[in-house]
Amino acid sequence: MAMSGRKPHSETAAAPADGPQERMREREQQERRLRERMARIKHTVVVLSGKGGVGKSTVAANLAVALSMKGRKVGLLDSDFHGPSIPGILRLSESRALSDGTSIQPALYGPDLKVMSIAFLLQARDEAVIWRGPLKMGVLRQFVADVDWGDLDYLVVDLPPGTGDEPLSVCQVIPDATGGIVVTTPQELSLSDVRKCINFCRQLDLPVVGVIENMSGFVCPHCGRRTDIFSSGGGEAMAQQMEVPFLGRVPLDPAVMQACEEGEPFVQRLGDTEAGKAFLDIVDRVIETSEHRSTLVS
Ligand SMILES: Nc1ncnc2c1ncn2[C@@H]1O[C@H](COP(=O)(O)OP(=O)(O)OP(=O)(O)O)[C@@H](O)[C@H]1O
Ligand SMILES: [Mg+2]
Repeated sequence: MAMSGRKPHSETAAAPADGPQERMREREQQERRLRERMARIKHTVVVLSGKGGVGKSTVAANLAVALSMKGRKVGLLDSDFHGPSIPGILRLSESRALSDGTSIQPALYGPDLKVMSIAFLLQARDEAVIWRGPLKMGVLRQFVADVDWGDLDYLVVDLPPGTGDEPLSVCQVIPDATGGIVVTTPQELSLSDVRKCINFCRQLDLPVVGVIENMSGFVCPHCGRRTDIFSSGGGEAMAQQMEVPFLGRVPLDPAVMQACEEGEPFVQRLGDTEAGKAFLDIVDRVIETSEHRSTLVS
C-alpha cells in the first residue's frame, strides 16, 4: 500500500472490509497491533492547549528534537489533520509515507527521531483535508498501529488545538499515555482556556506533566533585553491554583519564529539564547517527571 496521494489513498488508508464480521475482525487485529506497538514505547507525552496558535507544534517538535539530542529514541506524531505544521518545522515537507505492505515507514529527522504526519499523505502542501471523523480516526489508528515506530523512549504527540472532539478522539486512540503537557501564553484569555484543558486531562484520567508558559516576555533582537509585553507569570500562578507542575516559561523571540519558518528547530539553532536555555531546562523537567517519578498529577 503506497500511502501518498489524494482521496483514493485516504480511502485505502481506512479501506472498509467486506462484511461486518470481517470489519470487526480487522478492527480487533488493528487494536492488537496498536497495543503491541504501544507496549514498545516507554513514555507517550501529548502536547495540548486550550487555544490555537500558542506554540503547541513548536513545543512538540522541539521537545522531540531535544529528547533525541539527549540520547533518547523518539517518535513524533503530528495528529493535527487541519493544520499539520510539524513537517514544516523540521524541514520534512517533501517527505511522503511509504508502506512495504505490513508497516508504514515514518520520516527520519536524524538517526533517533521518527516523524509521522497527516501531511505525508497529501499530494500538495496546501491541500485541505476534508474527511469525515471516522475516516480521520481510522487513519490516526493506523498511525499508531501500523507505523514502524520500533522501540521508543518517547512518543510525542502534537494534538489539534482546543478541547473539542478532535483532541478528545486522538487521546482515546492512544491508550495509557504517560501525560499531557499544556502550552499556554500569559494572557488571561489563554489562561482561562488552559483551565479547561487541565480539566479535560482530568476527565480523561490523563496525568498533567506540567504547564509551559510560551511567548512569555519579549526578547529584543537588537539589545537582547527582555520586556514583558503581555503580563508574565500568569501560567505559573494558574498551575499553582490548579495544583499541576509548572515546567517553565519561554520568551517570545523573533529568532524562534524564524527558525521554525526555516525548518530548523530553535532548540538546536538557538541553544545558547534565553529561549533555547529555558526550553532545555523544561525538557530536563519533562525527563525528570516522566522517567524518575512514579506518580504524576492527574
Ligand atoms: N517562543 C516563541 N517566540 C516566537 N515565536 C514563537 C514562539 N513560539 C511559537 N512561535 C511562533 O508562533 C506561531 C504559532 O506557533 P505554533 O504553530 O507552534 O502554534 P500552535 O499552538 O501549534 O498552533 P495551532 O493551534 O494552529 O496548531 C509560529 O509561527 C511559531 O513559529
Ligand atoms: Mg499546531
